[in-house]
Amino acid sequence: MERIKQALEKARTERLQAGGTLVMSDTAGNPAPAADRIVYTQTRTEEVPLHFLREMRVLTGLDSGKFAESYKILRTQVLQRLREKHWNTLAVISPVAGEGKTLTAINLAISLAREVDYTVLLVDANLRSPSIHTYFGINPEFGLSDYLTGDVPISQLLVHPAGIGSFVILPGGKPLEQSSEMLNSPKMVRLVEELKSRYNSRIVLFDLPPLLSAADAIAFSPYVDAALLVVEEGRATTHEIEHTTELLIQNTQLIGTVLNKSRTKIRAKENQSSRSTDTASAGGFFEAIGKRFRAWTSRRPERTDG
Ligand SMILES: Nc1ncnc2c1ncn2[C@@H]1O[C@H](COP(=O)(O)OP(=O)(O)OP(=O)(O)O)[C@@H](O)[C@H]1O
Ligand SMILES: [Mg+2]
Repeated sequence: MERIKQALEKARTERLQAGGTLVMSDTAGNPAPAADRIVYTQTRTEEVPLHFLREMRVLTGLDSGKFAESYKILRTQVLQRLREKHWNTLAVISPVAGEGKTLTAINLAISLAREVDYTVLLVDANLRSPSIHTYFGINPEFGLSDYLTGDVPISQLLVHPAGIGSFVILPGGKPLEQSSEMLNSPKMVRLVEELKSRYNSRIVLFDLPPLLSAADAIAFSPYVDAALLVVEEGRATTHEIEHTTELLIQNTQLIGTVLNKSRTKIRAKENQSSRSTDTASAGGFFEAIGKRFRAWTSRRPERTDG
């Protein structure tokens, strides 16, 4: 009996050392309510002022309105597709720089971590130019690049922004010139496998570099279950978007697109229902995910004026 207790305790400690989650139970053995389930031990908790998050357009507990609403819709659609296929790793990709991958990945991750009984790990895999930490105003000494090039254990790299549900960040670390080799390295591939298979209740999002700017993103994409394409309205050319799509389809499953920073009202038909979103006041965001993707890349979406 004592040996079983010791083995359980050892397993529990190992989970925690891996930066994992611990399901607490009450004295009767019933699982604790979802909000209490995540215990961060080695994962560092960082306080981030609410006003800073708002300034950076990062969703916070107090968010409401169309901006937050768009991410909830996106979350629902992403989650539906992940669940259907039993997938739990998703890369956030765009054709060119600055289209909003990082902000989309952050807000999707927070949305997922808030509403569902999942731990969400957001990995800054833009190793050439890591930036997730800047959205939280934190400056971690080490990150993924230090794990890949050195011996810093993952459990010591994880950061939990205080007050944001079961959400954990793996920061990028020191910028790396040779980032495509690193993202493709056996160590990185093993890490993805480990993150994927170790916890059923974990979703892992990867923030990647722009797909057309270097070999990183496309080299990495086969290792994740699926990719979400973020396209800023009017930034990449139709050819660039089509080329990106082709590359993604050849390398992973494309589960949908986000049309970001849209300044116009757009009507989308998804699952036979239609919906229009005025995005101008929210700083511009609209998600158009799933089946519409092909039509969208070859033809501008229908717009409604005023
Ligand atoms: N929906 C949005 N509404 C308003 N501003 C946005 C939106 N999405 C992103 N931005 C802003 O656009 C800029 C670029 O966003 P972000 O860093 O997410 O892009 P990125 O695609 O990750 O860039 P990079 O390719 O350099 O990694 C940031 O200043 C961000 O705040
Ligand atoms: Mg980015």
